[in-house]
Amino acid sequence: MLKSRKNFTGQHALITGGSSGIGKAVAKLLAQQGANISIIARDSAKLETARQEIAAAIIDSQQKILTFTADVTQQSALELALQQAIANLGSPQILITSAGIAIPGYFQELSLETFHQTMAVNYFGSLYAIKAVVPEMIAAQQGHIILISSGAGLIGLYGYTAYSASKFALRGLAESLRGELKPHQIKVSIVYPPDTDTPQLAAENKTKPPETKLITATAQLWTAEGVAREIIQGMIQGKFAIAPGWEMSLLNKLHSIVRQFLNWYFDRIVCKYRKNK
Ligand SMILES: NC(=O)c1ccc[n+]([C@@H]2O[C@H](COP(=O)([O-])OP(=O)(O)OC[C@H]3O[C@@H](n4cnc5c(N)ncnc54)[C@H](OP(=O)(O)O)[C@@H]3O)[C@@H](O)[C@H]2O)c1
Repeated sequence: MLKSRKNFTGQHALITGGSSGIGKAVAKLLAQQGANISIIARDSAKLETARQEIAAAIIDSQQKILTFTADVTQQSALELALQQAIANLGSPQILITSAGIAIPGYFQELSLETFHQTMAVNYFGSLYAIKAVVPEMIAAQQGHIILISSGAGLIGLYGYTAYSASKFALRGLAESLRGELKPHQIKVSIVYPPDTDTPQLAAENKTKPPETKLITATAQLWTAEGVAREIIQGMIQGKFAIAPGWEMSLLNKLHSIVRQFLNWYFDRIVCKYRKNK
């Protein structure tokens, strides 16, 4: 249940990565509150399945749920998908950049290609979408852009050298962009989800170093629906930083202060694991 509600009726929400996990869960909640939704991802079969699930949540037969196939790393293909979405459903009031990947591993074993790919999807994929949509929002003098970072965008974590860096980059972008877009009545929010039970987490668990698993297991596992509720709640409350749960909330407020303690605590976990190996 949402604590506070807002009428999203008739609004157009564009969601990259809306065919799965957190993006899809947010799409469903927005559909339940009257929004028209465009979801963008690569796999058209997955998009169609998601479209049906999201469409099942609408509250008015006039609502439209559309899908667009694009790889967010391909700027022109992404722009084309966004233009098509806008041509169909009008200027977006909401942009959520949820398309993302995580490839954990020991730094020495991660290829440079992994670092490039992770930045291409997580950072540049979000940037391209924002760049394309901001002129529309400025013309309309309204809008809300929600970037999906991660708890690993607040503190660098063992095994996440490629991923954390891309999520920190989003934080820098969001913090700088917020003030620039405010005079245009455009809000910017950044989300720091904890570990969330989604296909991405299942995929990354396959290559995650055991030390990383032990460290991330110190925080509670969330459902995509739980994170989506926090996102909608945060949007309604106009929050800049949306940090689901007490662990992420504490980390968001105090990360510079608690970093020394967390470094000590996580180093201890790694040391203990290595000793018993
Ligand atoms: N799950 C977690 O524990 C967790 C924690 C913190 C932050 N996050 C972040 O939350 C966001 C959503 O993650 P999730 O867990 O919901 O993942 P997910 O279930 O795997 O969904 C990822 C979505 O992104 C799309 N996508 C991936 N690469 C893409 C590309 N190159 N171009 C276009 N779309 C692409 C996927 O569809 P296609 O594969 O069909 O393209 C899918 O729709 C990500 O940014 C992730 O880093 C997740």
